[in-house]
Formats: sequence, structure tokens, C-alpha cells
Amino acid sequence: MKKIAKKIIKWAVHTKMLSFLRSSVVTILRDANLAIVRYDDAERSKVFDIIRKVKKENEMLLSDNEAYQVFMAVKRTKKINGDIAEVGSYRGGSAKLICEAMGNKTLHLFDTFEGLPGLSQHDNPKQFQKGNYSASLEDVKSYLRKYQNVHFYKGLFPTTADPIKNNDFSFVHLDLDLHKATLESLDFFYPRMNKGGVILSHDYISAPGVRKAFDNFFKDKPEPIIEMSGTQCLIVKL
Ligand SMILES: C[S@@+](CC[C@H](N)C(=O)[O-])C[C@H]1O[C@@H](n2cnc3c(N)ncnc32)[C@H](O)[C@@H]1O
Repeated sequence: MKKIAKKIIKWAVHTKMLSFLRSSVVTILRDANLAIVRYDDAERSKVFDIIRKVKKENEMLLSDNEAYQVFMAVKRTKKINGDIAEVGSYRGGSAKLICEAMGNKTLHLFDTFEGLPGLSQHDNPKQFQKGNYSASLEDVKSYLRKYQNVHFYKGLFPTTADPIKNNDFSFVHLDLDLHKATLESLDFFYPRMNKGGVILSHDYISAPGVRKAFDNFFKDKPEPIIEMSGTQCLIVKL
């Protein structure tokens, strides 16, 4: 029964006969201010298959379209020289997406693996509490074991950043929820980004501390902060 339902959904998503109906649904959702993801071409539907798989395997805190932005930003910045880093890996869900997209690049993953540190005055205590999102480093290592060139750093960023202080970067994913760690990550990575490299952050729209960190940091920089359709923002290093 499940198999037949899956086949019907696949047919409904891909068939040309229903393309008018699909675009009407997209228009209605867009007008209602709901996030849209479109599945109707081969490259995108393949990415969404990966996202669905990761979500089945693990708790990942990105919406489908946010996960899609991460995947595509990694894929499209492969031509920029430099490594990839993620600060705020939690259980490794978003890191797995990066692994799937990055080819033979090197990925550096940072987390306390003990959850969020203390909040500052810029963070919303109703939204986040100290210790939220604690995860096991060993579990994340095991989850990502099939990927080459992945390095793990446990502890409070940026105190753990010393081993990569001489590296440069093509893509950095920040998912830290809080003001201080986001600001310190921007301080660390911005000068190490290669031209055309991307810093993408979760929660720019939804977490006041993250937004403030970006807005203050980029006040005197030439890069515009580009808001995305979910809660993310990104900058492209000029
Ligand atoms: C929302 S979770 C990340 C979710 C993950 N990216 C995903 O999509 O599944 C936020 C993570 O940031 C980590 N974190 C926050 N501040 C940190 C800091 N200063 N150093 C290292 N990790 C930090 C927390 O431990 C937590 O695992």
C-alpha cells in the first residue's frame, strides 16, 4: 500500500499532465507566505532524496529548503579553493549533507558536543537554554565514518580553532544559535575565506543574537548579508 502511494506521489510530482495544478499550488502557498520547495527537476529531486534520508537517520534541525541551500552552496562552491568548516554540528545531520555534496574537499566539524554554552544578553532565553542540543562525539564520528577527510574538534569554539588557523576556506556553515559564538566564528573565518567563498548561517531571521552578530560584524564590510527564504542568511566573500 505504502509502495503504491509512493508511486502515485512520484507520478503526481513529475507528470507534465499535472504541471498546471502544481504551479497553482505553488502560487497559493507563496501568496500565503509559506516556504516552497519544488521537486520537479532531476537535480533537485535527487538532493531532496538525500535530505529525506538524512532526516530519517538522524535528528537534523534544518527545514527541507534550508537543508537544500546548504547542500547547493557546498556543491556550487567546490570550484573555490579552500576547506569547509561547520561550527555547530549537533548530531551530524547537516554535516552529512555537506559530506554528500563536498566531493574530495576537507571538512572541519566543531561542536562542544555538550550542548549550548551560556546565553548572553543578546540571546532569547525563551528560545534557547544552556545545554540544549547535547550530542555524543563518538556517535557523530560513527555516523560519518564512511566519509574521508572529516576532522572533529570537541570544545568551545574558538578555543578549538588553533589547528586550522593557517587554513583557508571555500564554505563555512554556522549553526550556533547564540550571539557570542556566531560573532567569534565570523571574526575567525571571515579573514580566512577565499574570494567567492560563502559563509551561510542558520537562524539569522529567527535568533536575535545571531542576527545582531551578523549585522554588527558586516556593518563596515563590503559584503551584503543576503537573507534566505527560511531562517538563513549568507554572504559571499568579495
Ligand atoms: C542547533 S544545534 C546545530 C544543529 C545542526 N547543525 C543540525 O542541523 O542538525 C547548535 C549546536 O551549536 C553548538 N554550539 C553552540 N555554541 C558553541 C560553541 N561556542 N562552540 C562549539 N559548539 C557550539 C551546540 O553544542 C549545538 O550542538
